[in-house]
Order: sequence, then structure tokens, then C-alpha cells
Amino acid sequence: MNEIIQKSLPYKKYVVDDRLQYFKPHATKIEKTFADEVFFSLNQNSKYIHPKFFYDKKGSALFEKICELPEYYPTRTEIEILRNLKLDLVDYLDDSFRLVELGSGSSVKTRLILDIFSQIQNDLEYFPIDISEILTESSEILQQDYPTLRITGIIDTYEGGLDFIEKYDDKKNLIIFLGSSFGNFSPDEGKVFLRQINEIMKKEDLFLIGLDLVKEKNILESAYDDSQGVTAQFNLNVLSRINDELDADFVLNNFEHVAKYNEKDQRVEMYLKSLVSQSVIISKANLSIHLKQGELIHTEHSHKYHLTQIQNLMNETGFIIKQTWTDKKENYALTLVSKK
Ligand code: TRP
Repeated sequence: MNEIIQKSLPYKKYVVDDRLQYFKPHATKIEKTFADEVFFSLNQNSKYIHPKFFYDKKGSALFEKICELPEYYPTRTEIEILRNLKLDLVDYLDDSFRLVELGSGSSVKTRLILDIFSQIQNDLEYFPIDISEILTESSEILQQDYPTLRITGIIDTYEGGLDFIEKYDDKKNLIIFLGSSFGNFSPDEGKVFLRQINEIMKKEDLFLIGLDLVKEKNILESAYDDSQGVTAQFNLNVLSRINDELDADFVLNNFEHVAKYNEKDQRVEMYLKSLVSQSVIISKANLSIHLKQGELIHTEHSHKYHLTQIQNLMNETGFIIKQTWTDKKENYALTLVSKK
């Protein structure tokens, strides 16, 4: 770590041992953002809560459960593709790459990529970027299983993490963004984000992105509204998080999880529906809101793409496509790109 970055970035460094360290923004940065953003997004007619707030410890654990649900095909399908692309991906790498991951949820996928790195590298280096402290737990487990792996965890937003990576050093990065998390951006936000990634990338860097493809409405709706109600719990958990962290009084039983596929906009839309007319106080955001019976709080969009749309998107945002992999049924796609 060079001195310049220590001075210019508002991070605190935590060294666990010579193979594991974390960087975390000073506490006030995250807390302030949460209260401010909740104030802004709930203090209007079309209310919403930003999906990045799903992932506190409990939310992250619930999301891991979603990934194992029979109805939730994306994780399983992505893992299947990753298992098959082994030989292909290794051709694009050499021993001077490090792995950078946006979001560090399920370590199964990370391991599959690390195993590909192991074919050509002895000293692996991994930089997970995640807003959730769960990153520390998954990093410790990974460290135990990969005796030569060095991990630098960045506990921050994607934007913060990318900024960090850019300023860090000149090593080549393979940046991965899996789980169709990109689908949670609107198409416009998504383009801005892709350009941001493009901008911090060096000429030799690579970027691998996993995206869910357009398919039948029924399959999509049950993937986001499972029969065991885990997805409902996950969605509702954001309200308990606001209760706990921002001193609010949401009554969870007064809300219901809603997931609908919007064919025209190619996205699954997730909401929390207010079942009664009610008022809620969010003390630390200095906000009191009223919700009508049936009123929706929007929590997430999950956009689905056609393969040609992915190609156009990458082209428009400054990338060259190196290779695309899908499963046999074309349910899901992984795309490897470099900078134009
Ligand atoms: N990135 C995931 C997706 O869009 C996130 C997700 C899965 C999700 N299930 C959810 C978000 C339910 C909100 C509610 O597939």
C-alpha cells in the first residue's frame, strides 16, 4: 500500500496477518449515507429503498439461502457455466493478474475462478469489494483453503471500491461482476456504471460479467417469489434493518412482498406493499411518512437481457467482447470483455 492512497482515500486499514487485510471507510461515511438516502427515497410520492441496503448480515445470509432455492435458477446456472469455461478463460490470463470481485456473496463462484488462476499462478491475489461486513467471514474461510492466497478486502460501495482499485497500483486486474447484479441497475445507470468500470481499467485488464437472459414470465416470477417465502423475508428484512439502524418503527406484518415481471421493460419488479393505511417514524433520518393501503415501496428491479442487447451495451460503453458463454438452454450468459 503506498502512502498516497492512505492520505487521499478516507479508509481505515485493518491488518489481520500478512495475507489478509481490509480497508473500510471511516464509520461516519456509511452511516450518513444510509440515513440520508432513506430520507430522500422515502420522502416522496413514489417511494423506494435502494437495493444495496438489503445486504446487512442477516440480508446477506438470506440471500445465500435464495441462491439455493429450487426456483432461483441464476446462481446454479452461472456456476454450471463457470465450471465449463475453465479451459477457455485460462487462455486470457497470465501470472500477473489479480482477481477483483464486485460483491463477494457466494464463495463457490470465487473459488471456481481462483482454481482457474491456480493453474497458472502460485501466488494468488484477491480483492473482494463488498458493502457488507460478511466479506470478513468469507475472506477468512477462503484464506484457510488457499494457503498462498493474499486477500485485500474493501468494505465499501462498488464505486468506492473501483476508485480504490484504480489508485492502488499497476497490477493487471480481472474484474468479475457475477450473479446478474448488473441487472439491478436501470439501463441508464447500468451504462454509467459500465463506463466507470471502463475508465478505471487498464489496457490489459479484463472484465467478466454475468447476466440473466430474457425468458418465460412464470419462471422469472417464481424465481423472485419462491414457495418457501425466503425471498419475501429477504425483501422485508430491509425494513427491520431500517428499524434497527435508523431507529424506525416499521411493523413488518403490515407489508407484503410483491414480484412482477414487466415484459415491456424486461425486468422483474420487486416491491413492499403496505397492507394498511399507516404512519412510520424513522427517527435517525428525521422523517415521518404516511403509507396508503396498497401503496408500494419499490425495492429492486432485476433486468433481463437478450444476447444481442449485451453485445450492444458493451460496445456502447467502450468494451470489446472477447468471448461469451451460456448454458445449453441460454438461460444465463457470462461475457468477457476488455477495453477498446
Ligand atoms: N441480483 C439478484 C437478482 O436480481 C438479486 C435478487 C435476487 C433479489 N432475488 C431477489 C433482490 C429478491 C430483491 C428481491 O437476481
